[in-house]
Amino acid sequence: MSKPLDKVRHLTEMREKARQGGGDKRIDAQHQKGKYTARERIAILLDEGSFEEFDMFVQHRCTNFGIEKESYLGDGVVTGYGTIDGRLVYVYAQDFTIFGGSLSETLALKICKVMDQAMKMGAPVIGINDSGGARIQEGVNALAGYAEIFQRNILASGVIPQISGIFGPCAGGAVYSPALTDFNIMTKGTSYMFLTGPKVVKAVTGEDVNQEQLGGASVHSTKSGVAHFAVDTEEEGLQLIRRLLSFLPQNNLEEAPLAACSDPVDRLEDALNEIIPDSPNKPYDMYEVIGAIVDNGAFLEVHKDYAPNIIVGFARFNGISVGIVANQPKHLAGVLDIKSSIKAARFVRFCDAFNIPLVTLVDVPGFLPGTQQEYGAIILNGAKLLYAYGEATVPKVTVTLRKSYGGAYCVMSSKHLRGDINYAWPTAEIAVMGASGAIEVLYNKEIREAADPKGLAAEKEAEYTEAFANPYNAARFGYIDDVIEPRNTRFRIIRALQQLSTKKLSNPAKKHDNLPL
Ligand code: HXC
Repeated sequence: MSKPLDKVRHLTEMREKARQGGGDKRIDAQHQKGKYTARERIAILLDEGSFEEFDMFVQHRCTNFGIEKESYLGDGVVTGYGTIDGRLVYVYAQDFTIFGGSLSETLALKICKVMDQAMKMGAPVIGINDSGGARIQEGVNALAGYAEIFQRNILASGVIPQISGIFGPCAGGAVYSPALTDFNIMTKGTSYMFLTGPKVVKAVTGEDVNQEQLGGASVHSTKSGVAHFAVDTEEEGLQLIRRLLSFLPQNNLEEAPLAACSDPVDRLEDALNEIIPDSPNKPYDMYEVIGAIVDNGAFLEVHKDYAPNIIVGFARFNGISVGIVANQPKHLAGVLDIKSSIKAARFVRFCDAFNIPLVTLVDVPGFLPGTQQEYGAIILNGAKLLYAYGEATVPKVTVTLRKSYGGAYCVMSSKHLRGDINYAWPTAEIAVMGASGAIEVLYNKEIREAADPKGLAAEKEAEYTEAFANPYNAARFGYIDDVIEPRNTRFRIIRALQQLSTKKLSNPAKKHDNLPL
């Protein structure tokens, strides 16, 4: 065989070797745990045949603890670029079959390279985490590698979408890269995230807890909010990333893609005219309203199981990608508390950073009272949502369905926080507080001293309801642009979004804001 052909064959062999990762035994072990390998994950994630790999021949350069005798082509992470629905994305997937995907200096450099490319090209970056953390033999070089990645996550924040899949272990300081990205997707049963593992927890606090209880997908998707999505399988997680990206622009200077829309823009939903119950204390399901008004009822919910008293997620109106924020009367009457405020604030800020219009559906009785909330700093946390809406410059369309009381009225994308179009249903009640609370404050003494306290209370309540439990007071001042027929909500929102498509608004120049953290 000629020399050049020999060299080509050598290249082919090298590539084959790199693709074997840590070898068949470790690949089998990965499969036995119900997990895919890094390369298999990338193949499922990207459009078929679109992956171009970088740095297949990188090897670690550590010489501690005899590790110099063990080296693998690619060094524990597969990196490169490809397309999703024809759009460019950068990707890295940690390879657990090589030193448990643990992070070395060179592995970090590979990740940094794709992140730098993603920033230059203005394209999303997707990281699949499955790693034993800092490569212990590398010492401070591994820590330095993490910090280099964190720095890039920070600079990329609000510039390109960053999505993390957690498909295996993610522990110690390693958790901070996903924490800095926009969305975390965890697989149930095979992934966990925690700063310190069960053994350290036991030693320090005496608490007995296993990995799943400490940092499994269910914990982070329901209790901590660290995970935005919990999925049953890796395939589901990877398809979810593809769907999520379809709602997002490539970067902060672009608009999200306009999708084809087969759902009539003027579709009337008669059921909405009757969805609000007679009693203000009776709940209804906000999902029914969302499903009725968005294109084809399709809604990609974020943080589904965390703080369910507020709903956030992506949908489309006549093909326009929007972020929906909606109080959920079915949970805690849709009250704003610490968790729901943080959840919605983060979502609003994400949408604003990436030019995605906001549609807010309001039915909120106010902020949750009590020591638990006050000690937990509902003042600061509620202010986050207020801040997020107030600083947002994207088109903001608000529809008040029923209650909008007190501070929560101001917060939920009101006219005063630069809401562009604020509609209300005829069932809206926009006031400082609900009737029974107001009567208690205003007529406490008279009611106590009355011959018929119940009768007087009912009379005053009726008076207050007549005067304030309606949208027309707010409309009288122009705080509500129009009172609309509920069944026509889809059409009115689409009209509003079309009108706002050329909106230009910017905030004063500053180094950065001082969001109440
Ligand atoms: C070097 C590692 C490693 C690590 C795993 N391996 N973690 N090598 N550094 N951190 C290697 C193992 O030696 C093994 O090699 C292979 O990866 C697979 O590991 P197993 O233990 O066999 O797998 P499993 O039983 O599934 O357990 C996975 C695990 C465990 C739970 C992740 O490996 C583990 O506890 N690793 C250490 C985790 C850790 O403490 N990391 C440091 C965290 S501190 P062979 O050759 O047998 O296949 C940290 C600081 C970051 O990360 C700070 C950032 C600022």
